[in-house]
Amino acid sequence: MSEGQASRPAPWDEATAASIVAARGQEPGAMLPILHDLQAAFGYVDAAAVPIIADRLNVSRAEVHGVVSFYHDFRDHPAGRHVLKICRGEACQAVGCRALVDHLDICHGLATGATTADGDLTVEEIFCLGNCALGPSVLYDGELIGRVDAKTLDGLVAEAREPR
Ligand code: FES
Repeated sequence: MSEGQASRPAPWDEATAASIVAARGQEPGAMLPILHDLQAAFGYVDAAAVPIIADRLNVSRAEVHGVVSFYHDFRDHPAGRHVLKICRGEACQAVGCRALVDHLDICHGLATGATTADGDLTVEEIFCLGNCALGPSVLYDGELIGRVDAKTLDGLVAEAREPR
């Protein structure tokens, strides 16, 4: 499921989460598919899902938590209405993504990992979007955008923060 305004995730619901976990609980290597399914459903992996997964897969809660926190793709809190992912992979680093991260922070008060107070926009980092030749690259609500500069970011922030 793509993220952002076009596909608002459902609010956290323990019964739904339990059925998602149960649906894949018998599969070999079920942990990652379960986490992806939970994030697709709710937009994040709620802490309350950890014991459900641990019980079903017969692993420790620490193990589940370790996987959730290891992968940048999983978030442990709901994202904003729009999600901007900035590529921090090597190729994008070489063409200035660091300056873009600084621009968001300095000019818009948006640090990586932050969500605006009004919940309009979440900024996250990602490591390679497969668009290395056209970097710096970002993903905005699931749309890949290349050759991004500060002006592009200003436009995306303005769009995300448009009054509803
Ligand atoms: S490193 Fe950014 S798209 Fe590959």
